[in-house]
Amino acid sequence: MMQTKKITTHRWSELNVGCEACHGPAREHLLWTKNNEKNKPALSKTKHAGFDFSFKTATIENQIEVCVPCHSRRTGLSSAFKPGQQIMDHYMPSELRAGLYYADGQILDEVYVYGSFIQSRMYQAGVVCSDCHNSHSGKVKFEGNKLCTQCHNVKGSPRFKTLTKKSYDDKGHHFHQTNSKGAQCVECHAPQRNYMQVDPRRDHSFRLPRPDLSEKYNTPNACNNCHKDKNAKWAAATINKWFGSKRKKDRHFTETFYKARQGDKTAEKSLIAIVNDQSNPAIVRATAIQLIRGSELSSGSAIMAAIKDKNALVRLYAADRLIDLPITQRIDMAFDLLEDPLRTVRIQAARAVADLPVTQLDAEQNAYIKKGLQEYYDAQEMIADTPGGQLNLGVVYTKRKKFDAAEASYIEAIKLDPAFIAARFNLANLYNMLGENKAAINILREGIKIAPKEGELYYSLALVLVEEEKLDAAAKQFKQAVALIQDRPRMFYNYGLLLQNLNRTDEAGSALHKANKLNANDPDIVFALAIFYAQQQRWQQALPHARHLISLLPKKPGPKKLVADIQAQLK
Ligand code: HEC
Ligand code: HEC
Ligand code: HEC
Ligand code: HEC
Ligand code: HEC
Ligand code: HEC
Repeated sequence: MMQTKKITTHRWSELNVGCEACHGPAREHLLWTKNNEKNKPALSKTKHAGFDFSFKTATIENQIEVCVPCHSRRTGLSSAFKPGQQIMDHYMPSELRAGLYYADGQILDEVYVYGSFIQSRMYQAGVVCSDCHNSHSGKVKFEGNKLCTQCHNVKGSPRFKTLTKKSYDDKGHHFHQTNSKGAQCVECHAPQRNYMQVDPRRDHSFRLPRPDLSEKYNTPNACNNCHKDKNAKWAAATINKWFGSKRKKDRHFTETFYKARQGDKTAEKSLIAIVNDQSNPAIVRATAIQLIRGSELSSGSAIMAAIKDKNALVRLYAADRLIDLPITQRIDMAFDLLEDPLRTVRIQAARAVADLPVTQLDAEQNAYIKKGLQEYYDAQEMIADTPGGQLNLGVVYTKRKKFDAAEASYIEAIKLDPAFIAARFNLANLYNMLGENKAAINILREGIKIAPKEGELYYSLALVLVEEEKLDAAAKQFKQAVALIQDRPRMFYNYGLLLQNLNRTDEAGSALHKANKLNANDPDIVFALAIFYAQQQRWQQALPHARHLISLLPKKPGPKKLVADIQAQLK
């Protein structure tokens, strides 16, 4: 679904953000301001100073969720959120998605604080925004390390019993000149990233610097932010020297998320383990559920457990994954979720079963789905004047097989924003599905003119052209696509097969090898390489790939036969 990118700006009636955005409706507060001076009771004596919502009595979640409409990357479903309500009746916060976050959860695109902060140990321990920020000016409460040593010091903090009592603002911890830039807590634990050159944002996940992950998983680290002339290995070795190499490392999901994002199925088992480990932050567990792609039994039962999870974010992304399951399981599970207390979860569940044939369900089931979808349509109506709203409608109309309505929604989305790639992409898919490839090609070519750097458009166009058997034209589009999107193994794989078809053997070989380099464990790719060499009778080169295939598909007879055939040729 569309992600709203722009932060809602401060066009509020009052100075900055209006009081009501954080404090809720202010009936009594307004009455108070209208009272003449003599009758005015002290503001502090009125209920919550006259506002409906009080931070003093609110839960940690409620306090932080007040900030979510404006300080998160999320999809909006309603504009009626009021402080004190559950955020997920109104918004779907994004998970740690590729393109928004690095595989280790650090900020990549502009994500506006919330998704980072809820990853942090501090959030889990009950630290809130107002521990560091003056809620009314937005400024930090103290300059420099004092902000952090409020709690992180030799005495600890009475509110947080688990804190290690230790002197952190000390060369014994940070190993830099006291008071220098390198000794600032935030420089190592909340490094800055600049957006559009002028917008510095601090990573609110307050994590430990992990240069040891940087080389393998392409993640940044605080140390090399400053020490640009040194590499990550140096930084990792330095930390080991400082803190000892045998120290307890925090558990990390980086490798798993990195692999899963590449489509590597071997990540499945650890994804499930991450979901099941309740001590992980909810947003990490939700991300793991979202990345589960397998139709294996174990994935199914992980999703089944997750739809009953205490945490709504986990349920939300489990609902999203129902589409992977066999129809009967999907129906059963969707029914639990269609009664979920939170609206976004209900809606997501309805979307996941929207494409089930009406005739396969009984009347009660159909009624439930209809009700869930109605909530969805209502929510989209509120944002029907946005390209995102129209896109969302198009997606569900397509699932309900209301193709004319879907087409109209996508066209409207493109009219509202001609550069909106997702809508073009979906419209082209719809035309393709309906056998109208000419229309699909037109819409994609038009998109390429508007957004010539958008690899996805070339890729889609290439695939449609292959269907139309215009192979040379398709190869041209593929070439553009792989130049723009360099990390998608399946794309190189498809390109490789096409080039092979066109007898452009050398190029085919390098595309297939590139695919294999990006994902060494995709059986299709490994098979393609084995066959690529076998066809050229280069048996020596074919053999290792065929053997690797046996290890990937140990239960299938095909790979064993392939190895035997190749070995026979070698004799
Ligand atoms: C960005 C969110 C935000 C906005 C906007 C905001 N406040 Fe607050 N306000 C808070 C938070 C958070 C607290 C409690 C924590 C603290 O004291 O820092 C608070 C505390 C208060 C309190 C103390 C009583 C209580 O509920 O804890 C009063 C009174 C108050 N705000 C009045 C106002 C008024 C009047 C406005 C508009 C001019 C306003 N606030 C705007 C976030 C906000
Ligand atoms: C109605 C929208 C809205 C709500 C609700 C809101 N903010 Fe903001 N806030 C903004 C905007 C807009 C900015 C300015 C843009 C920016 O710097 O990201 C801002 C800026 C800030 C800043 C940076 C100020 C600075 O000087 O750099 C902090 C800190 C902040 N908000 C904290 C909070 C907290 C904490 C809450 C919840 C209690 C909250 N905000 C709720 C809209 C909102
Ligand atoms: C209101 C108290 C409070 C303040 C202020 C505070 N912290 Fe924390 N911090 C905590 C608590 C509580 C924990 C969790 C300790 C635990 O593991 O139980 C924590 C944990 C951490 C961790 C460990 C993270 C991990 O993954 O192991 C780091 C790093 C950290 N804080 C850095 C900072 C920095 C940097 C600042 C200042 C910008 C700061 N803290 C300000 C209370 C605070
Ligand atoms: C030069 C970088 C650097 C600076 C500056 C720095 N730290 Fe750290 N900090 C680290 C590293 C590296 C670790 C991880 C050590 C480990 O793995 O055991 C760490 C670990 C931590 C931890 C978690 C482990 C523990 O001991 O509880 C906390 C909390 C923490 N730092 C707080 C702070 C605070 C507060 C400041 C500022 C007063 C600060 N750090 C300044 C690099 C830094
Ligand atoms: C442990 C301390 C701490 C906590 C807790 C914290 N912040 Fe911050 N925040 C900072 C620091 C430090 C900065 C950088 C301020 C500066 O450079 O002037 C910052 C900056 C910001 C900014 C400005 C833009 C940016 O991203 O750098 C916003 C907005 C913001 N915080 C919002 C929030 C919200 C919302 C919460 C709660 C969900 C929150 N912060 C919790 C320490 C904290
Ligand atoms: C905000 C910038 C900054 C960050 C972040 C930072 N440093 Fe430094 N570092 C410096 C500066 C400036 C010096 C030189 C002055 C000094 O010693 O404080 C330095 C000095 C050093 C030195 C000694 C001199 C040398 O170059 O051999 C080491 C080792 C070092 N840093 C390692 C680290 C490691 C490891 C990290 C991450 C955990 C880190 N630094 C994070 C700025 C930074």
